[in-house]
Formats: sequence, structure tokens, C-alpha cells
Amino acid sequence: MSTVTTNIESLAHEERVFPPPASFSQKAHLKSMAELERLRREAYEHPEEFWAGMAQELYWFRKWDKVLQWEPPHAQWFVGGKINISYNCLDRHLSTWRGNKAALIWEGEPGDMRTLTYQQLHREVCRFANVLKRAGVQTGDRVALYMPLIPELAISMLACARIGATHSVIFGGFSSTALIDRINDASCKLVVTADGGWRRGSEVKLKAAVDEALKQTPSVETCIVVRRTAVPIHMEAGRDHWWHELMETVDANCPAEELDSEHPLFILYTSGTTGKPKGILHTTAGYLVQTHLTTKWVFDLKDEDVYWCTADIGWVTGHSYVVYGPLSNGATVLMYEGAPNHPEPDRFWSIVERHRVNILYTAPTAIRAFIKWGEQWPLKHDLSSLRLLGTVGEPINPEAWMWYREIIGKGVCPIVDTWWQTETGAIMITPLPGATATKPGSATKPFPGIEADVMTRDGKSVGANEGGYLVIKRPWPSMLRTIWGDDDRYREQYWSQIDGIYFAGDGARVDEDGYFWIMGRIDDVINVSGHRLGTAEVESALVSHAAVAEAAVVARPDELKGSAIIAFVTLEGTHTPSDQLKEILRAHVTKEIGALARPEEIRFSDMLPKTRSGKIMRRLLREIATSGSVAGDVTTLEDFSVLEKLRAEEEC
Ligand code: PRX
Repeated sequence: MSTVTTNIESLAHEERVFPPPASFSQKAHLKSMAELERLRREAYEHPEEFWAGMAQELYWFRKWDKVLQWEPPHAQWFVGGKINISYNCLDRHLSTWRGNKAALIWEGEPGDMRTLTYQQLHREVCRFANVLKRAGVQTGDRVALYMPLIPELAISMLACARIGATHSVIFGGFSSTALIDRINDASCKLVVTADGGWRRGSEVKLKAAVDEALKQTPSVETCIVVRRTAVPIHMEAGRDHWWHELMETVDANCPAEELDSEHPLFILYTSGTTGKPKGILHTTAGYLVQTHLTTKWVFDLKDEDVYWCTADIGWVTGHSYVVYGPLSNGATVLMYEGAPNHPEPDRFWSIVERHRVNILYTAPTAIRAFIKWGEQWPLKHDLSSLRLLGTVGEPINPEAWMWYREIIGKGVCPIVDTWWQTETGAIMITPLPGATATKPGSATKPFPGIEADVMTRDGKSVGANEGGYLVIKRPWPSMLRTIWGDDDRYREQYWSQIDGIYFAGDGARVDEDGYFWIMGRIDDVINVSGHRLGTAEVESALVSHAAVAEAAVVARPDELKGSAIIAFVTLEGTHTPSDQLKEILRAHVTKEIGALARPEEIRFSDMLPKTRSGKIMRRLLREIATSGSVAGDVTTLEDFSVLEKLRAEEEC
């Protein structure tokens, strides 16, 4: 790992405590702290029995022989079992009254709507699975999905899972260059996309980006295109096919493959500390068991609920808590395609009111935007259907938490602040809403069966309220299995920082009540609006521009986005700084990665602060970007004059 801030301090002090409302607890799956503590104890003492007990709720073609095979750092869960996640999300419900229950209620940004019952979703998934088979996709092949938030994305994932193809969903906001890297890394055979999608009233041209990418992706044989915007696009003869045409050619009978528990379910790319994103690999049974159980308990999900997780399916939250977790529970899932402020800043609240949403799971960055837009927007709507609120993706500041509680939850909805990661696959630290007393800004305690701790770099647990590194001390069912194609990096990044213990990359402290307070990333990863970006990724995008000699990217705290990206750039001698060049470079990053990585600010500097061994001292740049000066230790800096120059640049 490169730069790690070693002195993690936390000064936050929050005294407020909110016990769960009695009326909520009475009806909840987990009703009291005593019940939760008993479960925690049982799971701590007999973790394998605990998880095996939970796994029995699911449908197995063949039961496992062994719950856990742990050869650090590789785990196998439910060894010898045969299972299919698509079967568990669909077929299992068809023999119950849920067959005609709404599985997906979808709203497009322009206002169009579709509802798919479990029967209908099953039928569509089976048909698309047959389309994939006919296109030559076999068990074990990789399929890339680059789509808007439309039902066909969930259908594609479930169809892949049904036949044992491994899906790799690539967020629709990524550029064609980012698409090339991800498709090639996993050698995807087929791409499913759409002509475009809608975002804030504009068309996002997905197929055009795919056309660009497919010039450099030799493994792709076929591209299937959903008609969403109906704006004319190029269709490459022999390679590109319309979804709706192919669906006409197949039948709706496609038995689910009986797959090994450890069959690779999906790859999802996430940012790390190098320029190359990591393909996080998740497998089938353990992932299903933990997403199933956490969805049921953390969201206290009941059959009559309308459940809405606002995440895009392109991120792990969408995989686990829009698709697999809720559908395996037979839930009614609301999906919304577009932006929260289209056509007005009350779109979310209008959706809650019209669909009588009961459970809302969103990101702190969205909550901060709602605060900025003003409470008149939610106050215009009847939000009385809401009974539970959740947050994920970044630390939530207590003010935003209180606003969420008072303005959206009317002081009666419990809030579950859930800590987890792409790598963990499912929620790890969280309140259980009928049992846990919450404190604004704390994700509270580990889920039963999860052993989390805060440690020093040499593996010692820290005392109460001392900052340290967040770790997980034993394997859990939905853990990542490896980094696709790079097991060495998997070992090195996650299991070698502190030997044999999972290193999350977050700083944290535990208070005197055992509550966890997550302080954010301690590595060179920036969390912008709840999305992870590696500083190295943005730097390599900048350096790939001919004008740039060197670049260093840091995060600056931002009221709205959590962090904003600030880039310090040294130009090649042949180029001179200008505002126009700043814009060109921002556009270049957008092209290389996507708009989510576009630097908020670019600062030119004729040199960057470095150690004697030549490492860029990002810590100093962070200080300069944040406060305009450097108060921390500069003894390892090679050339002191650089600080003066950077300050001067800031002043002009
Ligand atoms: O820094 C933590 C932050 O998001 C990171 C994981 O990002 P990603 O893999 O993109 O997954 C996001 C959705 C699960 C973590 O390392 N994070 C996530 N949830 C929280 C959080 N930070 C504080 N509180 C949370 N509830």
C-alpha cells in the first residue's frame, strides 16, 4: 500500500441516542437488544451453525457437505452444495401466493412505468437465458452489462445467473475507455446494452460508447441492444442484435442450472490504490445467504412492503440490495431510472407518495443534496407510508442524519446506517432496526456472525475511542473470493496489511458502548458522492494527456459530495497553463473514466512535493487543497520551496 495516514484521530462526539420505537420493535423480525445479543453470542461461538441455520431458508438442489473451508486467505462456503440464485429469486416464489405479486415496480425518468410480477419476471429471465444460450454463452463465460436502470438489467443478471454465466455490470456513467479495460480484463464474450438511457432529461448514449469500445475488445462476439430511448443508433451487422427481436425467437422454458456453491456469480470492478481497477469476484451460495439474511433483518422486510433502494445497479449496492437480496426474499422492489431532481427536486418524494414506499435506502450524498434543495420539496408530499430509512456508501454527518430522521422520517422511522463494501458483498456493520438504539453518525455494531475490530498497524486492538484500522477477523459468507486474474493483489491488499486479517481500508473507532464510527478511507481512494475512485486512476488519466508531465490527485472535503477531486498538474515544458487547458484536462478525464471522475479543480504547479525517494506527498497536497497551508510534518520533504510555490499558485 502506498501512503497511509497513520495517526487516525477522531474528535467527533455525539451524545444523542435513539432507541427503536416500541411500535416498530413489536412487529420487527428482531424485536429487542436481548434477542440480538443472544444471536450475536450464538453466532460468535458457533459461526458455522449460525450461517448454516440461515442457509436453510433457501432452496438447494443438493445440501452442502461442509459449511466452511478456510485456507487463509481463501474461503469456500457451503462446500459441495448445489444451488442457483436465479431459482431462489424467482422459481422458489412461484409455488407460493407470491407468483402474482409485484416483483419489480419500475419508473422511467420520463414518467413511463412497468410492473413485473414474479411470474412475469421469471418468464422474461427464462427467455433471455435462452437468448444467451443461443448466442453461444455457456456456464463459466463472462457477460458484460452496460445498461441504464431498466428492468432488462435485472433480467440480464438473473438470466446469466440462471445458466451459470458470470456477469460483469459496468456502470452506465463509465466512458468507453473504462469499458474497454473492464471487458478485456474479464474477456467478456457478449455485451448487453441499450441504445441509451435518460438522465436529467438528456439521453445517455450507451450504444455509441459500446461501438467505440468494441473496436478494441477482441473477446466480444455479440452485442444485444435494448430499445429504450428509440434514438437512431448504429447496428453492426452480424454482431449487434435487438433484444426484442431475439426474445421473439425463444421459448420461456429454461431450467436453472444446478451450480456449485462456489460458482462465480459476478465480477464487479472497483477502485483501489493503483491505476488499474480491481475485478472483485463473488460466488454464489455464500453471497446469497448473506444478502438474503441481511435484507430480511436489516430492512425488516415484510411481504406487504414496497422497498426502494435508490442505488444504480452498476454499483454493489444495486447488486445486493436492488436485485439479489430483495428478490430472494420475495419483496416488491421499486426501481427508478433517473435523477432525483428531474423534473423537480421532489422526484424522490413524489415516487414515495405515489407508490406508497415503506422502506427507503439511499446515500448520504443524496441526503445532503436534498438538504441543500430545501425541505419545501419533501414537505409537499405525503411520506406517511415510510416506516424505515437506510443509508450506505459513506459516513453520514450527524446533521444530515437528523434531517433525514426529522424531515423524511417524521421522527418515527428508525435509520439504519449500514457499513459495507464491494468486497464484503453484503452489509457488515449495521443497526437492526427493531433492536438497536442508534446514534447519529454511527453504523453501530457488527451484524451477527461478523467479527469486526479496530486495530493498530501491527495487529493490536485499540482501546475505546482510539482511532485505528477497521478489520474483519474471520471469514464471512459473502466475502470476495479473489481479484479476477490477480490473486497476488488479493492477498497483498486485503490479507497482508495485518497478517491473516481482512483489512478494509477504512479508519474507525469504537466507542465505550461498542459502537463503530467509520471515519472514511485511509488509503489513496476517494469517496465522491458515495462512489469509490482511486487517485491513481485519475492521475493516470491525466498523465495520458500529451500536455501533462505529472499529476497528483487528492480529496478535499466537500459539503455535498463528501469529497471533491482536486488535481495538481505539472505540464510538459511545451505547454503553458491556461483556464482553457484546465477545461480540456477535465474533459479528458471524463473521456478516460467518466463524468464521476472529473476533477472539481485543477491546479497547475511546476513541481510537486516529494520525498527524497521520489514519492509524491499527497498528505501535503491534501492540506494545501483543504486549508491552503501545511501544518503537518514536512521533515521528509525533499525540496521545501515547492510548498511556497503551491501556496502562491493557490493565491493567484
Ligand atoms: O469507506 C467506506 C465507505 O464506502 C467504502 C466502500 O465503497 P464501495 O465498495 O463502493 O461500496 C459502497 C456501498 C457498499 C467503504 O470502504 N462506506 C460504505 N458504507 C459506509 C461507508 N462509510 C461510512 N459509513 C457507511 N455506512
